[in-house]
Amino acid sequence: MLKGRHLVEPGDFSKEELEGLFSLAEKIEDDPAFLRECCRGKILATLFFEPSTRTRLSFEAAMLRLGGSNLGFAEPSSSSAAKGESLADTIRTVSCYADAIVMRNPKEGAALLASRFSAVPVINAGDGGHHHPTQTLTDLLTIKRVRGETANLTIGFCGDLKFGRTVHSLAKTLSRYPGIKMIFISPPELTLPDYIKEMLSTEKIPCQEAERLEEVIGDLDVLYMTRVQRERFFNEQDYIRLKDFYILTMEKMEKAKKDMIILHPLPRVNEIAEEVDNDKRAVYFKQAKYGMYVRMALLASLLGVV
Ligand code: NCD
Repeated sequence: MLKGRHLVEPGDFSKEELEGLFSLAEKIEDDPAFLRECCRGKILATLFFEPSTRTRLSFEAAMLRLGGSNLGFAEPSSSSAAKGESLADTIRTVSCYADAIVMRNPKEGAALLASRFSAVPVINAGDGGHHHPTQTLTDLLTIKRVRGETANLTIGFCGDLKFGRTVHSLAKTLSRYPGIKMIFISPPELTLPDYIKEMLSTEKIPCQEAERLEEVIGDLDVLYMTRVQRERFFNEQDYIRLKDFYILTMEKMEKAKKDMIILHPLPRVNEIAEEVDNDKRAVYFKQAKYGMYVRMALLASLLGVV
């Protein structure tokens, strides 16, 4: 039962609970009338202290499709945070008005703190360069729907693995599935943080590090591309030097398996050439749609209406 629970980081839900969410999301995709109106009278607060397109709008669309309503802000400058209010006080207040809170915040650990002060479920929509568990739900549902299973896969994570919170959450969650091999492709400055590496080594997950995408692309079943996270760099010069380190082109795709799929949490900046969008292996826009279905399943479950 997920009713009343928080989702702060990927380990908060068991594998069985994740599978339950995926089957619910699949039912919603197959029958759009399923669960319609089940959240009538419920209110979701979306508190975004950092920019977002897909995460915020897919949560709001999910709530509207379930018959509920949304309130919140997309810009912290329009909230009392701009007057110096603490996060704890904001959350204590918003949890008087809403039945669940979705929050994105630039500080690592902000979602955990929010969960401690909230009377209603808190969903972490990204806390700094730490975790982004609902993007992982999106990624796994996409892999399951497109490839048929989330096990027995070689997945390559490419780009900014240091600051890319979607990578941290997906790698942690996939380590619970059998037959997973991970290849981490990044420049030396943007390798995976040690705490994730240590977790993968404790779980005995076969892992490899690489610098050149061309060298490993032929081994992959899933290629997870990411953007270099400009907003987390201390120094603009470093960002400029690293931002175009990887650009996936059709020429590079010639070396990939015919059934490899390309995922990207989006937004894409330069790391995937637009010519790749027309290849049937590019599933990142489909992935954005699965994000809405799985967030519908999540909200209905946390609010206890299914
Ligand atoms: C990601 C994020 O916010 O971490 N975006 C998203 O939620 N789809 C990835 C990114 O911003 O690069």
